[in-house]
Amino acid sequence: MTEPQQATLNWGVKQSFRNYVEATGGVTEAGGGAERAPDGEFIFAAAPGDGLRLDADGKLEGHGTFLGEVRFEAHGGMLSVFLADPSLEISEAGAVLTVADSSARTRRVEIARLDLSAMTTGDAGEIVLPAALSMDGIQLLGDHYPLRTALDPVRLTLAER
Ligand code: HEM
Repeated sequence: MTEPQQATLNWGVKQSFRNYVEATGGVTEAGGGAERAPDGEFIFAAAPGDGLRLDADGKLEGHGTFLGEVRFEAHGGMLSVFLADPSLEISEAGAVLTVADSSARTRRVEIARLDLSAMTTGDAGEIVLPAALSMDGIQLLGDHYPLRTALDPVRLTLAER
């Protein structure tokens, strides 16, 4: 019998931002269910009730919620970026990635739009979706990147059912 596959979301936020925080001697932390992958990305575990699936035509549908938080701190705390519990929501209007923007998790913001039409399938059936910065994401990342700046692609592994 094969082990049931755990659904995960791998996302590095933005590689140049991760490199920048590291280069300035800042701190990058993952916790609360998120782990740091060897390549520097973050791996978020699916929350119970994960509802992303491929339809009969191979199109991604549903709403997947994931657990974990990521914190970047640099410049003696002047740079402080936090995001938690990413959620991938697919509707008629397209696909978005939302996150909680504080550890209190009182507010969720749309950090990125995902391009479903550019979805590809990577190694071991992993689903890869290009991500582009949304309005609220601009603020979250410190007002440095213009709207629709490419972020790291979102990589999804779906649970086997
Ligand atoms: C003492 C305060 C700060 C200094 C001296 C500083 C300095 C710099 C420098 C020199 C760069 C260019 C790095 C490069 O091109 O390699 C940069 C880029 C950047 N900074 Fe800051 N910064 C400061 C505060 C902040 C704060 C508060 C934020 C808020 C999030 C921030 C976010 C960014 C971002 C997002 C980039 C672009 C990184 C990339 O993708 O290449 N910085 N900063």
